[in-house]
Amino acid sequence: MPSPILDVRGVSVPRLGFGTWQVTGRAAREGVRDALQLGYRHIDTAKMYANEVQVGEGLRESGVPREEVWLTTKVWIDAARASDLRRSAEQQLTDLGVDRLDLLLLHWPAPGVPLAETLGALAGLREEGLIRELGVSNFPSALLREAAALAPVFTNQVEYHAYLAQDAVLAACHESSVMLTAYSPFARGRLLDDPVLGDVAAAHDATPGQVALAWLLAQELVAAIPKASSNERRAENLAALELELSPEEHDRIGALRSRGIRTADPSGLAPTWD
Ligand SMILES: NC(=O)c1ccc[n+]([C@@H]2O[C@H](COP(=O)([O-])OP(=O)(O)OC[C@H]3O[C@@H](n4cnc5c(N)ncnc54)[C@H](OP(=O)(O)O)[C@@H]3O)[C@@H](O)[C@H]2O)c1
Repeated sequence: MPSPILDVRGVSVPRLGFGTWQVTGRAAREGVRDALQLGYRHIDTAKMYANEVQVGEGLRESGVPREEVWLTTKVWIDAARASDLRRSAEQQLTDLGVDRLDLLLLHWPAPGVPLAETLGALAGLREEGLIRELGVSNFPSALLREAAALAPVFTNQVEYHAYLAQDAVLAACHESSVMLTAYSPFARGRLLDDPVLGDVAAAHDATPGQVALAWLLAQELVAAIPKASSNERRAENLAALELELSPEEHDRIGALRSRGIRTADPSGLAPTWD
């Protein structure tokens, strides 16, 4: 069974998190509260999701002690300059109502801003104790290597699921013990009707979503952050931590990569992928 906790360079991270993109207002507050009460201990948000105030409210309403929750947020690319980044991070801490973030990421590579400047600013926040770890998101392998040479990058959050191979990014992560946080682990739902996943799920009395997550979570240094709107689905997704696939099942699901489906490829924002 996959351990519910990942050890990343001596730091413990709950490997299944709750993603909050497109969850706003009351749904964000209640979703985060309910997810934490169900047993999630890792929450993923971002400045761009416009829900940090509600995520913070949900965190407090849950009654789960702050130190038990891994809280990740992201700065948008318009704050990649050092002075803007500090201002954004301070506002995000205020909005979330916390003294410290567990992880602060640059949401996408920021064109026109030297990587050394952004990562230097993140490293400065880390040294001051405002953030525990720093990271990047949507970085292809070459850019990740560049980043890891400049600062202690803790994670690269990228789209990863059985329909999208991420061998190059995974290899670059392994070189520097960087966690790969898999976003859109269900390919935004497209993976859930797959007949192979359905087959494997039936053999375990599980659901295709649980199989999709178990496949990711069995991989070294991989965490996943599914989003679900209902508490039933959130509970179902959390229970994927109890599902263990056989090596044959793992390979069968891995073969689905030939589909090559990438759901997040925004023009003007996306880098040249591997
Ligand atoms: N760094 C980045 O650039 C980036 C980009 C995209 C996403 N993310 C992060 O990754 C998180 C997850 O990605 P995502 O929201 O794009 O996609 P996802 O988690 O792959 O899929 C979410 C979809 O799956 C459905 N779903 C969830 N659990 C289900 C279940 N048990 N049974 C059936 N359907 C289920 C959800 O439906 P309902 O909501 O209706 O339940 C929703 O339509 C985001 O919330 C965000 O935190 C980061």
